[in-house]
Amino acid sequence: MTDTIAISQHEAVGWIEIDREQKANALNLDSLKALDQAIEVYRNDESVRCIVITGKGGKAFCAGADIAYYVDIEPLQALAFMQYAQTVLAKLEELPKPVIAAVNGYALGGGMELSLACDIRIASENAIFGLPEVNLGLFPGWGGTQRLPRAVGLSVAKTMILTGSRISASKAEQIGLVAGVVPPSELRAHAAGIARQLADKSPTSLMLAKQAINRAYDTDLRTGQQLEAVQLALVYSGRDAQEGINAFMENRKPQYTGA
Ligand code: COA
Repeated sequence: MTDTIAISQHEAVGWIEIDREQKANALNLDSLKALDQAIEVYRNDESVRCIVITGKGGKAFCAGADIAYYVDIEPLQALAFMQYAQTVLAKLEELPKPVIAAVNGYALGGGMELSLACDIRIASENAIFGLPEVNLGLFPGWGGTQRLPRAVGLSVAKTMILTGSRISASKAEQIGLVAGVVPPSELRAHAAGIARQLADKSPTSLMLAKQAINRAYDTDLRTGQQLEAVQLALVYSGRDAQEGINAFMENRKPQYTGA
């Protein structure tokens, strides 16, 4: 698609590959824009039911924001860059289809924040997660201070953000940050397997469930449950719920269309 973000579709799964291997897949403004475009391509393509994001090569998923961009940056430029990156990541989080991060090496700074905006994270055994911005006299600005505590709790989040220390894939699995760890050579196949599983479900039920779950940390329990009930009722506006129930009653595999 561009020289920094590659997209490819395999059946109902849309892949996004960060392709800046010589810079550990760090994201500069151009690659963020390309990522933004890739998200829009898949948002508008009904044949894509699930997205997988990964990094090119075996070393890095994404080493974060391109630090070169921060040299001599003015405060308002920094603000615009952070806000743009936050907007792109929020698009992923709010995308009406599931997004998997297949973390194939370093996920540092904005790279870890990118993975946090995805719905499911899986990692290769050599993956390393960290928010090292404090080591540069900064702190995370692509949503890390907000999403990491929601993902792993305040204590772990504060430790990682304030010390800038890294954690291994197995530690990430232990604290619930990733849903599975596999050998590097198996990561893509593992991601493809989960993606196919998701692609076989009703896109309507996944979309409405994702929207309800996304509100879980932003709202009180009663309001969240009310939203959950309304979202679930909305499932019946399409044919998939009836198809799923009929298929169960008829002892056959359901065929979901999203219609
Ligand atoms: N921004 C810009 N360039 C980056 C980068 C980043 N976030 N991360 C890595 N690179 C570049 C390196 O400068 C190097 O470029 P060069 O070959 O032109 O010198 C290249 O990517 C390879 O990185 P290198 O450091 O040589 O590899 P390594 O295996 O020793 O270490 C990392 C890899 C990812 C651990 C290390 O590069 C690193 O810590 N990067 C910074 C991560 C970070 O602080 N992210 C938050 C940014 S706010």
